[in-house]
Amino acid sequence: MAQNPNKSYNGISDKKLLHMRSVAEECYRLAIESGMTESEARAAYTMGFIHDIGYAFSPAKGHAAVSAEMLYSLAGGNLTHDIVTAVRFHGKPSGKRIDEITPLSRILDTADLSVMPDGSKVSVRERLDDIKARYGKDSEQAINTEKLAKELGLI
Ligand SMILES: [Fe+2]
Repeated sequence: MAQNPNKSYNGISDKKLLHMRSVAEECYRLAIESGMTESEARAAYTMGFIHDIGYAFSPAKGHAAVSAEMLYSLAGGNLTHDIVTAVRFHGKPSGKRIDEITPLSRILDTADLSVMPDGSKVSVRERLDDIKARYGKDSEQAINTEKLAKELGLI
């Protein structure tokens, strides 16, 4: 892909790709563990792999919405709505979502909260510490992520 002349977004770095692959693996594992079928679990893998695709065209702050728009253009299939919604609102606690936290949202956020930006798997606490270190402990990202982790029962 040609380098975008607009440098105001991160793009998908090699590190981000590793994060996406690890989140996909975690989504698949969590889906199987929660009793989903092999087909549904593979859809969950796909969701994890593409949840940060919007970084290609957006800075970090808008990436979830851009990811969802890109997925929407691929619409079709029973799980599309739930997957697009899970991707659109990943990282957001209730009150910042249009829907309740669905089973697929739970899988994606649980996976995303256990994978570092470089793709390595860590505890939720370590992931929260990383977000606080990168954005600041009083940042919107840190506050939302901690609230979400509590809502998911992860901390
Ligand atoms: Fe993301």
